[in-house]
Amino acid sequence: MGGLELSRKVEHDEARKLLDEIEQTEQTDWDTIKGLFTAMYGHHKAEEGIVFPALKGFDQETNDLVERLITEHNAWNSAMSTMIGEHKFDRPKFLVLKVLF
Ligand SMILES: [Fe+2]
Repeated sequence: MGGLELSRKVEHDEARKLLDEIEQTEQTDWDTIKGLFTAMYGHHKAEEGIVFPALKGFDQETNDLVERLITEHNAWNSAMSTMIGEHKFDRPKFLVLKVLF
């Protein structure tokens, strides 16, 4: 496993831990939610700036996958930033975002 791939795996593992922690906590923990958003926003931008361009043009299935992932990233970033901006945790929406991740 290369350095970039390992870094992405570690980021995914850490994000899954935070997603579980947020899901299992009754009270809204804004520090954890903001930490998750900040980490994932940077992670998404790195994937979109480095990983996805390297995959583009491989084949149509890969292009479609990259497009789908970019759409999911945008939905994820938008929904999380709205919750944080409005300071209103939407648990059902969060659970959908968790599945998307
Ligand atoms: Fe990712």
